[in-house]
Amino acid sequence: MTLRGRIVLVTGGAKRLGRALALGMARRGAHVIITYRTSAPEARRVVAELTRLGSRALAVRADLSRAADVRALMDRIRRRYDRLDVLINSAANFERSPFRRLTERHWDAALDTNLKGSFLCALYGSRLMRRGKMLNIADWAGVRPYRGYLPYCVSKAGVIGLTKALAKELAPRVQVVAIAPGPILPPERMTPAERRRVVRRVPLRRWGSPDDIVATALFLIEGTDFMTGSVVFVDGGQLIA
Ligand SMILES: NC(=O)c1ccc[n+]([C@@H]2O[C@H](COP(=O)([O-])OP(=O)(O)OC[C@H]3O[C@@H](n4cnc5c(N)ncnc54)[C@H](OP(=O)(O)O)[C@@H]3O)[C@@H](O)[C@H]2O)c1
Repeated sequence: MTLRGRIVLVTGGAKRLGRALALGMARRGAHVIITYRTSAPEARRVVAELTRLGSRALAVRADLSRAADVRALMDRIRRRYDRLDVLINSAANFERSPFRRLTERHWDAALDTNLKGSFLCALYGSRLMRRGKMLNIADWAGVRPYRGYLPYCVSKAGVIGLTKALAKELAPRVQVVAIAPGPILPPERMTPAERRRVVRRVPLRRWGSPDDIVATALFLIEGTDFMTGSVVFVDGGQLIA
């Protein structure tokens, strides 16, 4: 499918990877809606950038772990655009939680945003989609968990399962795929020494870039209509390390 004139929703689109995906879609001629939860000024800036690219852009505040917020989001999209063509689930909770200090709160925060939030967006978003694509941003840690992030890793394993189950439920109308990034953008709290340690573990010996994820998303949306239920790893070889 081509993106020109399509209605695309990117969750968590105010910053970082979500922002890059939103701008990448607008550069291909799509009208882009982003969601944010706390980053209102950044969301306003992204809407201005999207508008300059010719997009009928909109930012909506939503806590995606709450069904009422997701329903209100989809309602605004229906009223303004009357449909949705592409959903990109990118918003996530990525909180370090060493095992000995793990609590129910860590579990709920990761699972509610990353898995339940993606599910709610897919459920209510699919009702606005006649045909289209869903992209779930998972993580290589969804198949090979790393230490210190148990709820996050489990949530991303769930996102991979959700992708496959949705692909069956929504075929042949909507194709559902997951992108599993490796190290692309370091969390803001990561020290330079920690960033170098990551590089030593990646076969390609560097961090990737948001452009790698945008290019993959564009391929999955515009490059082929014959993939569904698949997971594409964009991880510098981390999975085979
Ligand atoms: N960065 C990487 O290298 C990397 C690697 C592997 C996988 N990934 C995956 O790629 C995606 C994007 O990564 P990222 O690093 O750009 O993400 P991020 O900065 O950790 O989070 C993206 C946005 O998610 C939003 N968010 C968090 N909880 C939310 C909630 N309950 N409701 C609504 N929005 C919520 C936040 O919005 P506000 O700021 O508005 O609060 C945040 O800006 C994520 O799914 C991540 O797991 C990233």
